[in-house]
Amino acid sequence: MKIKTIAGVLGLFAALSFSPLASAAADANAAQALAKKEGCLKCHAIDKKKEGASLKEISAKYKGKADAPAKLLHHISAGDKVKFADGTEEDHKIIKTKDQAELANLIAWILSL
Ligand code: HEC
Repeated sequence: MKIKTIAGVLGLFAALSFSPLASAAADANAAQALAKKEGCLKCHAIDKKKEGASLKEISAKYKGKADAPAKLLHHISAGDKVKFADGTEEDHKIIKTKDQAELANLIAWILSL
């Protein structure tokens, strides 16, 4: 990972922890459009299980946890291995957008479901 990217991700962690965006009502339309564009919805439906958990399940798992936005950000930017329903493991998709407002909105939206 390039230094610049690390700095960007750390900056985003800070922005997510301290900005009102982390708790503010998300722009659901923009978030859903981004999730679609990034291919998230191929594996995560809003309310039913696909290859991955539904976004509502993910939200329920993290809701109320202070570090939820940071955890979600890690999941979608670090490319850690994840387990699929059939038991195979793959590196999780790394989200392409570097737009911090867009990312924060997507995360806030998932946590609002
Ligand atoms: C190729 C399929 C696939 C794509 C594309 C994908 N995911 Fe995932 N994702 C998974 C799987 C499988 C897991 C791990 C098992 C689970 O949580 O269901 C996972 C886990 C996660 C988790 C962690 C859930 C937890 O329980 O901790 C989050 C958050 C997440 N994905 C969000 C996203 C977002 C946002 C996108 C779009 C940028 C995305 N995923 C794209 C398959 C995918």
